[in-house]
Amino acid sequence: MSSKPPLSIVHHNRLAGEDADLRAPLVLAGEPHSAATLVRFGSFCLWPMQRLLLQDNQPVHLGSRALDILIALLERPGALVGKDELIARVWPKTFVEPANLTVHISALRRALGDGRDGNRLLINIPGRGYRFVAPVTVSDQFKPSFPETSVAGQCHNLPARLTRLIGRRDIVVRLSAQIIRDRSLTVVGPGGIGKTAVALAVAREVATSYTDGTWWIDLAARGNPQDVAGAVASVLGFERDPEKSLTNLVTALRDKEMLLVLDTCEHAVAAVADLVAAVLRNAPGIHVLATSREPLCTEGEQLCRLAGLESPPAHCASAERARRFPAVELFLERTAAGIGEFALSDADAAAVSDICNTLEGLPLAIELAARRVSSLSIAAVAAGLKDPLRLLTAGYRTGPARQQTIRAALDWSHGLLTDKQQVVLRRLSVFSGEFSLQDAAAIVSDQARPDCPMVDEVTELVSKSLIASGVSETQPRFRLSHVTQAYALEKLGESGELDAIARRLTDDSKAPMRRAAAVSMLNAALSAIEPEEKERSSGGGLRFIPSKPSRRPAGSKGKLHHAIW
Ligand SMILES: Nc1ncnc2c1ncn2[C@@H]1O[C@H](COP(=O)(O)OP(=O)(O)O)[C@@H](O)[C@H]1O
Ligand SMILES: [Mg+2]
Repeated sequence: MSSKPPLSIVHHNRLAGEDADLRAPLVLAGEPHSAATLVRFGSFCLWPMQRLLLQDNQPVHLGSRALDILIALLERPGALVGKDELIARVWPKTFVEPANLTVHISALRRALGDGRDGNRLLINIPGRGYRFVAPVTVSDQFKPSFPETSVAGQCHNLPARLTRLIGRRDIVVRLSAQIIRDRSLTVVGPGGIGKTAVALAVAREVATSYTDGTWWIDLAARGNPQDVAGAVASVLGFERDPEKSLTNLVTALRDKEMLLVLDTCEHAVAAVADLVAAVLRNAPGIHVLATSREPLCTEGEQLCRLAGLESPPAHCASAERARRFPAVELFLERTAAGIGEFALSDADAAAVSDICNTLEGLPLAIELAARRVSSLSIAAVAAGLKDPLRLLTAGYRTGPARQQTIRAALDWSHGLLTDKQQVVLRRLSVFSGEFSLQDAAAIVSDQARPDCPMVDEVTELVSKSLIASGVSETQPRFRLSHVTQAYALEKLGESGELDAIARRLTDDSKAPMRRAAAVSMLNAALSAIEPEEKERSSGGGLRFIPSKPSRRPAGSKGKLHHAIW
């Protein structure tokens, strides 16, 4: 037993105003700066100030209420601490049934192994309270140190990478510097572009910079994606209180120095934005790196829009040259992983360059294309990209469901759109090249004028990474990627609007560019039609024959069956 006087811990209410009712951190009476105070019992070390409990140098995951109880009992080791006092300490200003105390005492006992192997740490005095009976020593000469893990002695839960990151070195270096400087950084881009891969590389790079660790929170893995505070709390081992989870979390993080990596935010973007705004405002040591198909739009957020991996020019016939591009490197590595050794020949270089080019360096699509090489030749894979939804289907069994096929990746984004946005996206699929807002308005708007709602929807689709945008000769220009266009075109066919939208293109005599786009749209549509149907419908010159959408035969999911030319 320590020769020191028992700990005397008092509430130190450091929060004013709105947060004053929250459970305050506990500090030692008379020693408000005793951050180094360490309490030892058995194989456990507790730093009350840091609310950190280790057993044999490993963190013990204990709910915050159970931890409050432990700290309260350790204020007066050996003495009886009444039930009412414990309840008042743990649930200040809240009425709770004594059964709640029992639940958290049980959790505490389980975590401490109380009663196991003859261990006796706390005992119940029936009807009165609890007594901490194990020997306790107190010291203030130790600094808390997080257990060693794979990243230079720092606490983290970053998933191990199973494959290496190809290319992206400059971005990782830049973002690593940026997340240390700016507190909120969001990596944005379409599904499969490599947001998670880049965020993981950045997090590993900077993990040692945060005293309280770097914590990875996969929001796609949550049952209720809106409960972002609950997701963060459970990863950090804080107890969850659905009623006040955000305020409790903010309080718990207030004096922490930590990087939170929030992966896959797009399906809970508003809830994530609320959490990030509250954390940034109230917990100055917390930095947030997020990945999302659309920005969080919070104050102070820095954006990194991720483009595809660099690809060689189409038809690049030199293997030696093509190999220097990260998109090709990725294709070759994944192909080799699937079929064993694979050396790129000059003969195949052009087809591989075309694959990477057509897929615009989208890593997920490149991986899915590479997996086809086990059953198809490189040239056949390149040709098969005319119908990317059908070709790009062989994902990793162990990957997330939304990355099993390119269709699943697009379904995930499409499912997050409003009805209006879905209409605009599918109508825009008739453009296989760039288009302007005026072009879009002529095709999309029912009034054939560039009215505001249409502009808003296009802007939203750009924000959600479904439309790429750029500026050409001071005019904003827009474009759908090859896979998004194929997907949206399929939706247009399914909606029964294809003929009407095609007519809008061809009826507009003042728009040669749109007529050109109509031709490519219809070529794309034709390429997705069964061969015999294609023969029937394309015999003879270029004729526009509006027709009613035909019913798709069974087994032809995802195909357009309109006799349109
Ligand atoms: N630069 C890269 N090097 C190697 N593989 C990559 C790279 N970028 C992405 N990938 C792979 O592509 C797939 C999709 O990447 P991911 O990071 O999950 O995309 P996102 O998070 O944008 O949806 C994953 O299998 C990932 O490992
Ligand atoms: Mg991701």
